[in-house]
Amino acid sequence: MGFSPDRRLDPDRLVSELDKVVRVLFGDAVAGRPSPARGIAEDNLDGATRRHAAALMRVNHCGEVCAQALYQGQALASSDATIRSALENAAKEEGDHLAWSAERVRELGGGLSRLNPIWYAGSLALGYFAGRLGEGWNLGFLAETERQVEQHLEGHLQRLAGHDTRTRAVIEGMRREEAEHRRTAERLGARELPEAARQAMRLAARVMTTLSYRI
Ligand SMILES: [Fe+2]
Ligand SMILES: [Fe+2]
Repeated sequence: MGFSPDRRLDPDRLVSELDKVVRVLFGDAVAGRPSPARGIAEDNLDGATRRHAAALMRVNHCGEVCAQALYQGQALASSDATIRSALENAAKEEGDHLAWSAERVRELGGGLSRLNPIWYAGSLALGYFAGRLGEGWNLGFLAETERQVEQHLEGHLQRLAGHDTRTRAVIEGMRREEAEHRRTAERLGARELPEAARQAMRLAARVMTTLSYRI
């Protein structure tokens, strides 16, 4: 499990990775593709409905911040160029999710979670750790994350007011792609995580979603 020193000490790489962190946490995410909400008229939502939807989208944005860190950690730790490039597309789509969810939070009059740097650091460490366990576990961790995000977004679709078509479109668009990311990781050879690990991940996700709904 040697980490080639040229990759670790490469200053260009270090700068570009740090740049990524700063952009995710403090920059305005720019999507490469239009939001799934584009062209859909804004529904007439009352104050409470808007606040609830904004909070749900803040949770989702927070999840996308974590996805950025997970994919970054994965790419940093992985030594397999084929897997790294196969996951690049998923990482790019996560970048769009980040921008779409931030945009929707703002449209609904909400703010982003102030705890994002904490979740980012935790996810980066987890992604890196999983990456160092070898490709099978690394991909297994990614696949399980995507599976849980998929289920979580399904839950949000149920908790959302029926007439908030724009928010619904964003969540549905993201959910479709998370399913595709999971399938990609599975295709590349993801191992199935032990039940205890899956439960620990669900618990961590619950802490994150509960807190980011509020702050
Ligand atoms: Fe995503
Ligand atoms: Fe994803």
